[in-house]
Amino acid sequence: MEKKTAVLFVCLGNICRSPLAEGLFLQALEERGLAHLFEVDSCGTSGQHDGELPDRRTRQNALFHGVALTHSSRRIRPRDLAHFDRILVMDDSNLQNVRALCTTPEQYAKVEKIRSIDPDAPNADVDDPWFGGPDGFEGVYQVLERVTARWVEVLTAEQT
Ligand code: 4NP
Repeated sequence: MEKKTAVLFVCLGNICRSPLAEGLFLQALEERGLAHLFEVDSCGTSGQHDGELPDRRTRQNALFHGVALTHSSRRIRPRDLAHFDRILVMDDSNLQNVRALCTTPEQYAKVEKIRSIDPDAPNADVDDPWFGGPDGFEGVYQVLERVTARWVEVLTAEQT
């Protein structure tokens, strides 16, 4: 069997945006019978919420849409940059922080914004919903549902 494509989603705290991206990407893979072709994980640049479940507001919003999130928050590690094939970040600040950890051009080339492929707003940020109200969490959900499904298409096409 071919090597799985390893995909890492990254945000700041790994409790709002990136665990949701991970869950939605996995769900899209499972719906298409493609989960065996990928390894999927998420992490944060801060480490401030290590070991925590996703934020309660993120979990409630995701559950409303039928998605259960059980990821345990963790900080990005140097070996992630070598191991994962694609590293998809939420905003410019994440991009800067992850790029600063890269030690080779190959690692640097793996890192990009998750909305680089969003035709509605190419390269826009997925805004941090942490300080806002419920609308922010639903907005993040809508963006991530759309772009993770698109990433499934893009990355599956790259495998064939
Ligand atoms: P995330 O959101 O990066 O999408 O997980 C945040 C979670 C926590 C904090 C900031 C952003 N914080 O400052 O603790």
